[in-house]
Amino acid sequence: MLSPLYSRNVIRYLQDKGLCSLLNNSFETVRELKANQKNCNLVVNLEDNIQLLVKQEKNITSDGTPHELFNEWLFQQLLQQFPVLGNISAIAPLVLHFDEENSILVRSYLSEYLDLSNFYQQNNIFPVEIASAIGTTLAALHRATFQRKEYHDFMATAPAGQFRYSFYNPAQGIDSITPEIFGQVNSQSLQFYTLYQRYESLEAAIADLAYEWNPCCLTHNDLHLHNVLIHSRWNQLDNCLIRLIDWEACGWGDPAFDLGNIIASYLKLWLYSLVIDPTLQLEESLQLAITPLEDIQPSLVALLQAYLDAFPMILEYSSDFLIRVMKFTGLALIHQIQDSIHNCRNFDNSDIYKLELAKNILTMPEKSIVSILGTQESEIISSVTKMNEVTQPEKEKQLVRLYYEKTRLRGC
Ligand SMILES: Nc1ncnc2c1ncn2[C@@H]1O[C@H](COP(=O)(O)OP(=O)(O)O)[C@@H](O)[C@H]1O
Ligand SMILES: [Mg+2]
Repeated sequence: MLSPLYSRNVIRYLQDKGLCSLLNNSFETVRELKANQKNCNLVVNLEDNIQLLVKQEKNITSDGTPHELFNEWLFQQLLQQFPVLGNISAIAPLVLHFDEENSILVRSYLSEYLDLSNFYQQNNIFPVEIASAIGTTLAALHRATFQRKEYHDFMATAPAGQFRYSFYNPAQGIDSITPEIFGQVNSQSLQFYTLYQRYESLEAAIADLAYEWNPCCLTHNDLHLHNVLIHSRWNQLDNCLIRLIDWEACGWGDPAFDLGNIIASYLKLWLYSLVIDPTLQLEESLQLAITPLEDIQPSLVALLQAYLDAFPMILEYSSDFLIRVMKFTGLALIHQIQDSIHNCRNFDNSDIYKLELAKNILTMPEKSIVSILGTQESEIISSVTKMNEVTQPEKEKQLVRLYYEKTRLRGC
């Protein structure tokens, strides 16, 4: 039976589990993070400046569905078992404790790090080194696990006594309007479902994307800017700039999906900054954006280039990789609208524009590379190819030959 945690009983829980001492109770404070639908998140300050994040999943079903926090814990086990991954500093393990029965997970809370979405919104600056760090980290994860059965099998482990379904294909469109949806959303938001269903080409493009879904490596599967942390002194550091958190959805997936999600999360900064007013034409709204698309484009390009620099092989494996990244970007924009409707936000003119944009990206991905990224696909790819050509011979020159010209047996 689940025992819900609150600010009042969390310290007691941590003491029972040996995660904080029984002394010095007076130094301990608890703060609840902004509520979300999935989890209750409490930050506990202990003595010596130690901070813990205590997550508890809400609404756990008793039908044996595997808990999402189990997945996050499983990923942490994987990092420990395979140091090649655990040593990537931006994804290094943080989990200290997992309580499957009560669906509670305790992580170290990194007080020096900030939520990247908040960082961008508060400062309205987009240094390319931050986006590059995300691209490099993601490529390291995808590359290290690419087509490696041992990682796939590890992540297929099911919670004790339960059965794990095969990995979920996230390339899903929006369900048709059902009587339940009528009951859940207001009449303005129903317009979203009506418009969506009117665009036949959009539904066809999503169906194609689902068909093309190509799971081949370990993926985060919920990569948006709230799940990236940035170091408060990022501009004085060469590494440890960022951390990727919240691995609840991770699994065996398609690398283009992670890139599409993070690009859509950057686009959200632009789209939510549009000044939408019935008296304004769309052109005027775009010109008045507080965060114009041009400000974030260099970060989008830097992220993709850093990714491809660190994992160029993905282009040999999937020659239309960037096109598929764009399609997943369009799909993620549609899911953003759906999530905000479910969180009781109204469907307004900015969402209508977002849906139109998502449709264009999904149905005309080649064109959208230019309009969204501000550059040609060939420009992004050729700069990566050039980088590899330059670095290859130089690397060879610097290498000391470790072998003899002719094989010699020891002692001969
Ligand atoms: N280790 C951490 N250090 C600093 N902030 C964190 C840390 N972990 C989480 N946060 C903050 O808490 C929020 C929620 O954590 P997250 O694991 O993403 O939970 P949820 O699954 O509820 O989204 C994050 O978006 C981030 O702002
Ligand atoms: Mg999160």
